[in-house]
Amino acid sequence: MDLNWREEYSVGVEEIDDQHKQFLKILRRLYDSLGKLLTGEILLRTLLEVRRYAEYHFVSEENLMLQSKYGARESHAAAHVKLLEDLKQHLKDIETRKENLSDLVKFMMDWFAHHTQTEDKAFGHWLIERLHQAKA
Ligand SMILES: [Fe+2]
Repeated sequence: MDLNWREEYSVGVEEIDDQHKQFLKILRRLYDSLGKLLTGEILLRTLLEVRRYAEYHFVSEENLMLQSKYGARESHAAAHVKLLEDLKQHLKDIETRKENLSDLVKFMMDWFAHHTQTEDKAFGHWLIERLHQAKA
């Protein structure tokens, strides 16, 4: 599974790209742990890190939308809420062993690749355009 940053993920806004890069780093750490004998606690805490980082990043992104008066903020934020709900379910499924770690990482990576290249890029392009207009 390729969990590396690619230029196509860039939304053109450094603050968002930096957070996305950090998120991929945590996912890679989780994925790298698959072949190793980790104690349950480290694994559980790394899963917590994924969830908390996603929560933090979404609030941060939504605040940028709020500050810049982005019109599609609500629908974009709704996609974040949905992901967090789905993620919670996946985490429960891992606890009850209905799902394995590799499936969870794949689910997060698929979501990340899709969301950054659609909703996040739309916001990034809009924000850059707006900053240009403000300068003109
Ligand atoms: Fe987003």
